[in-house]
Amino acid sequence: MTQLWSPIKLGNLQLPHRLAMAPMTRSRAKPDGTPGDLAPEYYSQRATIALLITEGTQPSEDGQGYPNTPGIYTDEHVAGWRKVTDAVHAAGGRLFVQFMHVGRRSHPENTAHHRQPVAPSAIAPGEDMFTSKGMLPVPQPRALTTAEVRQTVGPIRRSRLPSTTTRNRSVRS
Ligand SMILES: Cc1cc2nc3c(=O)[nH]c(=O)nc-3n(C[C@H](O)[C@H](O)[C@H](O)COP(=O)(O)O)c2cc1C
Repeated sequence: MTQLWSPIKLGNLQLPHRLAMAPMTRSRAKPDGTPGDLAPEYYSQRATIALLITEGTQPSEDGQGYPNTPGIYTDEHVAGWRKVTDAVHAAGGRLFVQFMHVGRRSHPENTAHHRQPVAPSAIAPGEDMFTSKGMLPVPQPRALTTAEVRQTVGPIRRSRLPSTTTRNRSVRS
């Protein structure tokens, strides 16, 4: 505990102490994946924690698996996150966005496109998961081709980010 309240440098961030908030899915985003109106309030209320890590945020449509999770792959998503970062920064905090592609832990009920989930292999996890229609078995995913794996990883890699990513990057602070 002697180090807990001492400052630490993390990359180019100077943190005032060593407490961080773990990523926690909130399922409060708008149906299109834009962070909801509560998000700036929720995160800025916690801004005295040295580093906030957001709820898992899908980097692409197929990356979603849980209901009402936020995305960061459209201009509307980025504008929604901008409101969050502005509120957190105004309260003196720092925030990282967690990119989360859920892979096979997804259900068509939980996505706007209702497509079969995608994963490296067509193997169902053999579990139930929470959906907008209650607990349902997680379906067998469609196996991605090698080219599709590259396309899936692409938006997550800084060097391959699509046009919105310059702005995505600036959302991080
Ligand atoms: C409600 C809830 C939502 C969570 N959502 C995420 C998430 O979106 N991304 C993630 O990496 N972990 C998620 N977790 C896991 C937590 O970040 C954390 O790793 C976990 O609670 C274990 O923390 P502990 O080791 O301090 O007990 C979630 C946990 C809870 C309780």
